Amino acid sequence: MKFLPQLFAHNREWAAQQKKSDPQFFERLCAIQRPEYLWIGCADSRVPANTIVGLAPGEVFVHRNVANIVRPDDPNCLSVLQYAVDVLGISHVIVCGHYGCGGVQNALGPAAQQPLEGWLTPLRSLSRMHALELAELSDDTDRWNRLCELNVIEQVRVLSGLPTVTDAWRRGQRLVIHGWVYALNDGLLHDLNVSRDGPE
Ligand code: CO
Repeated sequence: MKFLPQLFAHNREWAAQQKKSDPQFFERLCAIQRPEYLWIGCADSRVPANTIVGLAPGEVFVHRNVANIVRPDDPNCLSVLQYAVDVLGISHVIVCGHYGCGGVQNALGPAAQQPLEGWLTPLRSLSRMHALELAELSDDTDRWNRLCELNVIEQVRVLSGLPTVTDAWRRGQRLVIHGWVYALNDGLLHDLNVSRDGPE
C-alpha cells in the first residue's frame, strides 16, 4: 500500500469489528437500504452526520455541501432529495447547520474566490435580507451564529417549495422537514422549531 496505509488499516479493523459484534451486518446492508432520514448538512469535518445522531450505516441518507445550502439550480442536491423521497421513501429531511460555519461567515466578509463565492451567493442575499436584525446584535460572533440559524430556516423554506416535496405532500406521503443547528463547542443539536409536514 503506497498511499494512506493507515486508513486501510483502520478500515480492515472496523470491518472486522462490525462482523464480530454483528455477523450478519454486511449481508443485511447489501440486501436492503431503508433509511428513515435524509440529512442535509455542511461539509465541515467536525459535523459528521451518523456520528452526532448515533446512527449506524444504513440508517441515514446523507447530502453535504459547503454551508448546507439547498439550491433549486443544484442537480446534485435535487437528485439526492428525489432519490431519498421517491425511491427510498424517507419520512424526515433534516437540514442541519452548525454554529461557527466558515461558509456562513464568508457571507459577512469580503468575497471569496470562485467557484466558492458563486456557491455562497444565496447566503449573501440572506444576510442582506436580514440586515436590520443582524445589525441589532451586539457583536460579530452573535451575527455569525444568527446567520447560521437563518440559513437553516431558509433552506427549510426552499425545500418546502421543491416539486419533489410538494408532490409527495400532494399524494399524502408522510414527509417532515426539520431545521436544526449543531453546536461545535458542546456537541449538542438544537431544534429551531421550524418543522413542516405539509404545505402552508
Ligand atoms: Co459549515
